[in-house]
Amino acid sequence: MAYKHLQQRGMAQPPVTVSTLRNMRAEGEAIACLTAYDASLAAIVDDAGVDVVLVGDSLGMVIQGHDTTVPVTIADIIYHCRAVSRGLGRAFLMADMPFMSYTTPVLALENAVRLMQEGDAMMVKLEGGAGQLRIVEHLAQHDIPVCAHIGLKPQSVHKVGGFRVQGREQAEARRMVSDARALEQAGADIILLECVPSELGEAVHEAVSVPVIGIGAGPSVDGQILVLYDMLGITQGRLPRFVQDFMAGAGSVPAACEAYVRAVKERSYPAPEHCFS
Ligand code: KIV
Repeated sequence: MAYKHLQQRGMAQPPVTVSTLRNMRAEGEAIACLTAYDASLAAIVDDAGVDVVLVGDSLGMVIQGHDTTVPVTIADIIYHCRAVSRGLGRAFLMADMPFMSYTTPVLALENAVRLMQEGDAMMVKLEGGAGQLRIVEHLAQHDIPVCAHIGLKPQSVHKVGGFRVQGREQAEARRMVSDARALEQAGADIILLECVPSELGEAVHEAVSVPVIGIGAGPSVDGQILVLYDMLGITQGRLPRFVQDFMAGAGSVPAACEAYVRAVKERSYPAPEHCFS
């Protein structure tokens, strides 16, 4: 029996940790993130140099065929997380906390522990702003790494009335910036910002010192994430404007993932046509 993390110390490509991500922000290296849901694609994404892999509740839509992420359960995320973790060597593994799995601090801790112990996740992601401060604080007090997802929150789709750009009004934008600050103070290690004007992406980035990962949040954040099936051109129908099909012209799935990592690192993705004003 050998300890993997000790063997990997000193390797040319050591595993990504929370400190790696913090250093990347400090040094201005863009963080490339993608979702994955199974071991085979996780291995391809990992080999392509993706830094963070998310087992997102988007699996409810792209794997299970639902219209929203609402039906996804904690058991679903654990199942896919275990598979993904077997495919990864270097990337940092983050798992989504599904709808209603973090309604109280006690429930959130219980489910976050399951994602880490049964799913092998290294960080949990939950959707919410000021309303989730108690939850983030409770998880952080128990040393659970947390990513706070703000902006468009797909689990709230039925409350909000659709998937649309958030923070276009000044009061809402100000609230989002102050939520991001409060979430960092509560112990969030990463902020994930979805579907907001680029100017607001920049304001959130300036307001906090933890890494900010964007999806449709413009170029002025620390990293980018996309749903794997969207950027591989598998998802059918109308896609959000921030999605680029990296499979077009790439010739293979590994080449498409490498092109994505390169574009994020060189900051040629997102281009102006992927951004909101
Ligand atoms: O569930 C998911 O894949 C996500 C990304 C869209 C960020 O939350």
